[in-house]
Amino acid sequence: MAGELASHKIKIGFIGGTGLEDPKILTNFVEHDLTTPFGKPSSPLLEGEINGTPVVLLARHGRHHQFSPTNVNYRANFWAMKMLGVNIIMGSNASGSLRENIIPGEFVFFDSFIDRTTKREQTFHDGQPGHPCKGVCHVPMLPAFNETLRKSADDLKLPHHDKGTIICIEGPRYSSLAESNLFRQWGAHVINMTICPEVALARELGIPYAGVALVTDFDCWKEGDRHVSVDVVTELIISNAEKTKRLFVHAIEKIGAAKTELLDEVRAAKLVARNSVMIDPA
Ligand code: ADE
Repeated sequence: MAGELASHKIKIGFIGGTGLEDPKILTNFVEHDLTTPFGKPSSPLLEGEINGTPVVLLARHGRHHQFSPTNVNYRANFWAMKMLGVNIIMGSNASGSLRENIIPGEFVFFDSFIDRTTKREQTFHDGQPGHPCKGVCHVPMLPAFNETLRKSADDLKLPHHDKGTIICIEGPRYSSLAESNLFRQWGAHVINMTICPEVALARELGIPYAGVALVTDFDCWKEGDRHVSVDVVTELIISNAEKTKRLFVHAIEKIGAAKTELLDEVRAAKLVARNSVMIDPA
């Protein structure tokens, strides 16, 4: 699905993440309380500027963290971004590490994913009355994440890994020890509860998308370490909030510098989205 042509301007959507819904990081901001054909997004969207670049912020779990990963209205979140003309999206995700060398406090710009979710709407093309997307959409997942955005980490002066596979579980519970070890054997590097279906919905809309994991814990596989819990995750998110903001400001500068390349990619992503829809020719 890709109704409109890509505009000639970049507007970046950020889906976060404690700290990122802070309006103080924006200048000239306005709030949009939107309703989409898929329902209400998790929270009002904040639109403003960072260093002159138009930016829209959205708190994935709601301003009061009231939506569990299963109950986030991912489709409404992405549709609301589209309604505001956002054509590039970055997401931040607190995530557990499944590897010795990926340490809490570091960032991972993952390049692929494994989907273990079971209860989420994965497509805008669901054939439901009143929903705007016709036909059936089979969108390719290679590359899953936008490479130019992912590479915005290149000269980042913060500890990070520039690739990795993220596994997304349904939650809300954390993994058992057997599950954690299984995911390690499968080759996953980090684990979270929200990258799916965001990655697929972005592809269906033809919006280049990248996610970055802020590593908060070692899940429960690592002996001698504090196992994942709400306390462990929250402590780490709070103590790294400033660093996460710095990361996003850096990403915005890089996106501004790669504007022409990214606008080409916006057009290419829209084409892939459009060509992925099968419509009954009759
Ligand atoms: N989010 C942060 N840490 C996590 C973990 N270990 N598993 C799933 N989601 C997470």
